[in-house]
Amino acid sequence: MDEFRALPKVELHLHLEGAAPPSFIRGLAAEKHEDISGIFGADGGYAWTDFFHFLKVYEAASSVLRSPRDYQRLLLAVAEESAASGVVYSEIFVSPDLCGGGDTEAFGDYMAALKEAAAEAERGFDVTFRVIATPIRHFGPEKARAAALCAAEKAGDFLTGFGIGGDETRLEPADFAWAFDCAREAGLRLTAHAGEWRGPDGIRDTLRALRPERLGHGVRAIEDLALVDELAEQGIVLEVCPVSNIALGLYPDMRRHPISELDRRGVKVTISSDDPPFFHTSMAREYAEMHRAFDWDEGQFHKITAQALDAAFCDADTKARIAKKLEA
Ligand code: ADE
Ligand code: ZN
Repeated sequence: MDEFRALPKVELHLHLEGAAPPSFIRGLAAEKHEDISGIFGADGGYAWTDFFHFLKVYEAASSVLRSPRDYQRLLLAVAEESAASGVVYSEIFVSPDLCGGGDTEAFGDYMAALKEAAAEAERGFDVTFRVIATPIRHFGPEKARAAALCAAEKAGDFLTGFGIGGDETRLEPADFAWAFDCAREAGLRLTAHAGEWRGPDGIRDTLRALRPERLGHGVRAIEDLALVDELAEQGIVLEVCPVSNIALGLYPDMRRHPISELDRRGVKVTISSDDPPFFHTSMAREYAEMHRAFDWDEGQFHKITAQALDAAFCDADTKARIAKKLEA
């Protein structure tokens, strides 16, 4: 795993709440006299059984994050983990549902706190962060609308994107078209989780209804090679999270994960860690797994990282600064 630790990495798909180290969440729970011990296993890590249970445990862990200051501390804890894996640029999903419950003013306080923490993380850990506001799909379209209004108000050089995560099996992409249109009009760049729990039709519906330039996961496109060709032709970028997909049971083992074939067929794939402590992963481990399963070497990792930076939701100056770090 250590062999690729030093390689500079760009991560496009990291849920901030899902990246919270279990010890951090346990500490916050103790401070607030909350008993959430049921979400931890004997090893002290998060304990879950399947995707739906994972979402429940995720929400229970997030329930102790209640103030801008909590998120500030969380971002710094996550920055330390990212830096230890060689990440130099990271886009974090932050849910307006959990940061002020969809209230624009409260969300503004969370964003101000996160921006301050990101500046501190940049000084202390040399990691640059940008935020993608990401409503939770199974909370419903109304909550997503409120989240879009929050995001639109704070759109700028720090909050640069809008996405959607959560239970992909519930509701239709078109139910969230208003939220995505609102975010697009505010100048936010768009991504959406699709092709994780639904197959090619779910991806097609998402592209049609929400018009994102990137897809979270998107790996199940492989079940329809015509769709794979379309993704390649349109330059749709996939935020692939290989270890997450194995941990959640999409594929039985890494050799059967489609990332390598998608790459060979010309789709722009990138690598991310999704919710690292939940899946016992890190960016360093993701790279090591790609090397072990597909013999990916430094040359291939450079290509993937350049692809990720190219697809990043940040301005040209930031990209140029990060590109220099990748060269070094
Ligand atoms: N939220 C956090 N991780 C997720 C995943 N893998 N899929 C959908 N929603 C998520
Ligand atoms: Zn995700």
